[in-house]
Amino acid sequence: MPVITEPAMETYGQASTALSPGATAAGVMVSGDACESGTSHAAAGADSGVPVHVAIIMDGNGRWAKSRSLPRVAGHREGARAVRRTVESAIRSGVSWLTIYAFSSENWRRPQREVGLLMELFMTSLQEEASRLDEHDVRVRFIGDQTLFPQRLREAIAEAERVTCHNRGLLLIIAANYGGRWDLTQAARALARRATDGDLEPEAIDETLLARELCLYGLPEPDLFVRTGGEQRISNFLLWQLAYTELYFAECMWPDFGPAELEDALHAFATRQRRFGRTGDQLEPAEHA
Ligand code: FPP
Repeated sequence: MPVITEPAMETYGQASTALSPGATAAGVMVSGDACESGTSHAAAGADSGVPVHVAIIMDGNGRWAKSRSLPRVAGHREGARAVRRTVESAIRSGVSWLTIYAFSSENWRRPQREVGLLMELFMTSLQEEASRLDEHDVRVRFIGDQTLFPQRLREAIAEAERVTCHNRGLLLIIAANYGGRWDLTQAARALARRATDGDLEPEAIDETLLARELCLYGLPEPDLFVRTGGEQRISNFLLWQLAYTELYFAECMWPDFGPAELEDALHAFATRQRRFGRTGDQLEPAEHA
């Protein structure tokens, strides 16, 4: 497990425990878990011009609140409402997988009070939203190192995953205490463990084997990345998986994100030509976006 020594973890974190053999440090695998019934989630297909997998950095909650002379947590609360709207809009638009960055490995550096309020908000949102998500046939999964979360939050996460695990509509992946570098590090550690156990020749390690140890193994990489809040950064999100993702940056603050803003992002995606290293001349018309 990664050694993270941010002060807030003293309060909210617990000592990391060794993982059982075969477990992933992410705590969850999107495929192959006990709930997997073998039925795949519905995928619209990028041929339709709709991205199959959308990943979002929900930035701007604090600035949204500040511009209204409200405490930052009010921005996060409004941000939770924007998550609900976005999930519903994504379903209507035909998106199959939605990955949202709720809390990064670096967010522990925030004031301890804000971190505590965010933990509370995650917990209450999960408790309040689990049945609504279930009604919408949404399956919820978490990626990230949950060992540092308060026990009650870990229980709420497990419950939300349990309640929705048979759903086959939108797959909502919530990245919480997640970092792309952490993900790559835990994957490297897993491969090193196999090599020292004599189970794997180092020369056999290739991109496919490494990708198998990453949190999102089993899911297609994001087609579209959206970041709100006007900043143009990836901020340690899905570093491996975003290699060929189309990037879209929105000026609006996350609490103001809604169906129209998602539609704008999807429209921009539909106009992109994805070449994956090839020249434009090599592409069939259907491969444009
Ligand atoms: C970034 O905005 C936002 C976060 C670090 C927290 C994201 C949390 C939510 C949207 C709340 C609900 C989430 C779920 C999954 C229920 P910021 O605070 O960095 O904004 P700023 O850049 O304006 O300061």
